[in-house]
Amino acid sequence: MKYLFSTVVLSSILCSVFAARPEIVGDILPELKKLGQTAYLNCSVINLQSPAQLQWIRKTPPSGEPLHISSDETIRIDEIVKGQKKYDVVKYGNTNRLIYQLIIRSLTETDAGNYTCQIYLPNQNYDEWPQKFGVLTVKIFGVGLENVDNSLPTVKKEDQAAYMNCSVINLHNKEQSQWNTKTHSTDDPSYISSDGIVRFDLFVEERSTYSVVKYRIHNRQTYQLMIESLTEVEAGNYTCQIYLPNQNYEELPRMLRSVTIQIAPYITTASSATITVQEGENVTLVCEAYGYPLPNITWKRGDGSPLPHGGLQLINGLYRINNVNATDRGLFICTADNNVKPHTSYSVQLKVLFAPYCTAVQDTVGQEPDRKYHAILECLVSAEPRAEVVWYKENKTTLIDEKILDSDKYTLQEQYDERLRDCEKWYTLKINNVVRSDYREYYCTAQNELGKHQAKFQLFELVDCRFYVYTNGKEPSNHQVSVVTYMIGFLVSFIFL
Ligand SMILES: *[C@@H]1O[C@H](CO)[C@@H](O)[C@H](O)[C@H]1NC(C)=O
Ligand SMILES: *[C@@H]1O[C@H](CO)[C@@H](O)[C@H](O)[C@H]1NC(C)=O
Ligand SMILES: *[C@@H]1O[C@H](CO)[C@@H](O)[C@H](O)[C@H]1NC(C)=O
Ligand SMILES: *[C@@H]1O[C@H](CO)[C@@H](O)[C@H](O)[C@H]1NC(C)=O
Ligand SMILES: *[C@@H]1O[C@H](CO)[C@@H](O)[C@H](O)[C@H]1NC(C)=O
Ligand SMILES: *[C@@H]1O[C@H](CO)[C@@H](O)[C@H](O)[C@H]1NC(C)=O
Ligand SMILES: *[C@@H]1O[C@H](CO)[C@@H](O)[C@H](O)[C@H]1NC(C)=O
Ligand SMILES: *[C@@H]1O[C@H](CO)[C@@H](O)[C@H](O)[C@H]1NC(C)=O
Repeated sequence: MKYLFSTVVLSSILCSVFAARPEIVGDILPELKKLGQTAYLNCSVINLQSPAQLQWIRKTPPSGEPLHISSDETIRIDEIVKGQKKYDVVKYGNTNRLIYQLIIRSLTETDAGNYTCQIYLPNQNYDEWPQKFGVLTVKIFGVGLENVDNSLPTVKKEDQAAYMNCSVINLHNKEQSQWNTKTHSTDDPSYISSDGIVRFDLFVEERSTYSVVKYRIHNRQTYQLMIESLTEVEAGNYTCQIYLPNQNYEELPRMLRSVTIQIAPYITTASSATITVQEGENVTLVCEAYGYPLPNITWKRGDGSPLPHGGLQLINGLYRINNVNATDRGLFICTADNNVKPHTSYSVQLKVLFAPYCTAVQDTVGQEPDRKYHAILECLVSAEPRAEVVWYKENKTTLIDEKILDSDKYTLQEQYDERLRDCEKWYTLKINNVVRSDYREYYCTAQNELGKHQAKFQLFELVDCRFYVYTNGKEPSNHQVSVVTYMIGFLVSFIFL
């Protein structure tokens, strides 16, 4: 009997000591709810027997103090929201496996956080109590950003001011509106402001760049960020976000605004104003321009004529001309344009050094002898540098060309005409009082350091009777007219060569 008694006592002691320990099984599934909804957090336990208790507590409420919500099914917080208890605990299940479901009603953003389910074990260290926590996330819909001003990017020019509105509805004290920026010059965002207070600033000429002005109309609060006197540095993205306690950073409501600063084009490097090359060489015209957006650079000829290798314009900062021809000479203009006024342009004078080229305006000229008439030979010379021009006449006897000097017989002149291009000269040889011995070949020769060229003329005896009728003993004016007409036609074709 005594033996039996001790066995019973021992087994009951053993039972109480070795009774299966209560445990929390499985994880508490996270809850994601919207404002005003009800959240349910399930904590499953096995082997829970009195005096052990299942408790729900909140370890990190905004106040910082742990919030003891419940013990078993008893709620310890007397909070009523909208006529209902804020918290409830409902027990499901059989004797061995139980679910203690924590119900949180009328969710606000401050309800978001970690909720711990723990098993209170008397006579044991707090550290050894089984614990698990579940995360409650509350999506904020009550507090919101309103897209009041259109979300088009702010496009401004340098030195202008930019204004951006961020309108928030239902903003409470615990929440803050913040303006952040991520600009072209920084990788990480800078936190410009909290509420209406500027926390980060840039100073230009001792004036602060940022300021925030608050306006309130009913439940709408507008935070207007002002950027004074924009420079390239301030171009970038600006974010207005609402900081909410207990909310994941990623889920904070935010709105993006971009600021683009347009900068009129400016030419930074360019070829020198005058470039001199020899014919046959290669040349590259350079024009480098900046601005925002990056400008297009266009090369054109000053007179609007086609470019050396065809086309009326070339869109590129570098313009390479291979095997330069004398006809390529002239003014080239590069224009930088990005649709921000004013455009800018730069001119380069391309000077091409080339050997002379002589052309007879009319290589056969007829005149009647012994009537005190004169004959005019016209020679067009193009050369760079300027060529020395000498007229020669053929001596049929000696076969030596004789240099013609200005005299009573010969008048040597250079003529001027606005249709002549750069590097073109117009020379005339007037043979006075034409006689039979004047009928021979004449040469216009031009020479510069790069070479020599000549044009040949033939003066012949004119025996057309009609000339007596038309000239009537006077100057052969109709003859002159025909030469000038031809000359104009020639010049035109020469210019468009
Ligand atoms: C919590 O447990 C109850 C009862 O078993 C179940 O109906 C409900 O779906 C569970 N909820 C979650 C979020 O697990
Ligand atoms: C919840 O607890 C986890 C783990 O301790 C922690 O990382 C997280 O920040 C907590 N969340 C909140 C909202 O307190
Ligand atoms: C910004 O808000 C202020 C105040 O409501 C308003 O006067 C201003 O026109 C708004 N600006 C823009 C760009 O919407
Ligand atoms: C601004 O935001 C847009 C869209 O998200 C992005 O494409 C752009 O690269 C951003 N600009 C800067 C300077 O961060
Ligand atoms: C001009 O460039 C062409 C093509 O690159 C080359 O073949 C030629 O030799 C160059 N001429 C001179 C004078 O450098
Ligand atoms: C220059 O161009 C003209 C017309 O195209 C051509 O007749 C001439 O041979 C060229 N000169 C040289 C040096 O290439
Ligand atoms: C450059 O030219 C292209 C083609 O004409 C055009 O689409 C583009 O907008 C221009 N860029 C700028 C910055 O004006
Ligand atoms: C040709 O040259 C010779 C010798 O100098 C000279 O006598 C003669 O007058 C010249 N003839 C003409 C037509 O000029």
